[in-house]
Amino acid sequence: MIFIDACLGKKTPYTPVWMMRQAGRYLPQYMKVRNSAGDFLSLCKKPEFAAEVTLQPVDILGVDAAILFSDILVVPLEMGMDLRFVAGEGPLFSNPILTKEDVDALEVAKAAKQLEYVYQSIKLTRERLADDKALIGFCGAPWTLATYMIEGGGTKTYGKVKKLLYSNPDFLHQVLAKVTEVLKLYLEGQIQSGVNAVQIFDSWANALEEEAFFEFSWRYVQDICSFLKGKYPHIPIIVFPKGVSGYLDKIDGEFDVFGVDWSTPIKLAKEKLGNRYVLQGNMEPTRLYSKKAINEGVEHIANIMQNSRHIFNLGHGILPDISVENAKYFIDLVHQKTKI
Ligand code: CP3
Repeated sequence: MIFIDACLGKKTPYTPVWMMRQAGRYLPQYMKVRNSAGDFLSLCKKPEFAAEVTLQPVDILGVDAAILFSDILVVPLEMGMDLRFVAGEGPLFSNPILTKEDVDALEVAKAAKQLEYVYQSIKLTRERLADDKALIGFCGAPWTLATYMIEGGGTKTYGKVKKLLYSNPDFLHQVLAKVTEVLKLYLEGQIQSGVNAVQIFDSWANALEEEAFFEFSWRYVQDICSFLKGKYPHIPIIVFPKGVSGYLDKIDGEFDVFGVDWSTPIKLAKEKLGNRYVLQGNMEPTRLYSKKAINEGVEHIANIMQNSRHIFNLGHGILPDISVENAKYFIDLVHQKTKI
């Protein structure tokens, strides 16, 4: 698998490429399956449907890896929280974590078991996916998940979780530790079901100042990486802490690939991390609105990364109103430009 070779730093005939959020609303085929499944969470819980939408971007765009179709928030859901996706508002938890009793009530082993529908989706997908294409499993980082669980949904200020961080750090650490334990079991379950690599999404990493980032986010990600590497050394791990370009000097851990977000100049990431890790990324997702902007974006990144270990991707998820034509143009262009 070219994608896995690239994750492990081996030479490949071209630079592999996939897109974060590649299975989603910009694909009419996705909308069709989502509508027949009911809503988004039902789609996540029905392996037959989830496998179908996981495979769509591989068939339609020719990406080098499929990413499991699910969501980072199914973990708090199965830990016992009530989750809804409200159109226009995003995810909402009706019972956010407030008290010690709330933390004690969160399930760990049971949650990892209840995620069986994800393991089934992986098995079905891996059966149907071509042998030369990789299947990526994933989870949210403990910090990002804890933020959703404490805020009860998306937030602009992070007021509730940061109030805890500075006024009752032990409480926040308890939540983070509990989520981390579930994530270890969950990623292990994904690996045992057949994923070829895993990615840890830390979408809210950039909400934290440097010291807090390492204490409340990164050390839990490192813990998950060390746990997985101890048991499954051959499975590549990709980390994606979004928006931490100022902290790259101190980034360290037992992972293989560092996902560079679009706000971090790829040249800077290469200087700071390129000799230790494979880099993934990082075209600005809205460049997909224009072929000219795609040409310039791909050219810029390919020039900087031409002699370095690299996986092409966007610097965050693809947006729902991007045309399929332009998405395919991006994938084809990367393959063509990086061929050796
Ligand atoms: O990348 C993929 O194609 C695989 C599937 C995937 C989804 N979510 C599907 C999804 C992955 C890897 C995620 C990760 C995820 N989910 C993250 C981390 C990555 C990031 O974008 O920073 C986060 C923060 C979430 C939480 C989440 N899930 C939000 C904020 C939303 C609402 C977004 C919106 O635009 O409405 C979701 C819903 C969601 N997850 C959708 C999809 C395809 C849209 C659901 C739909 O309407 O069909």
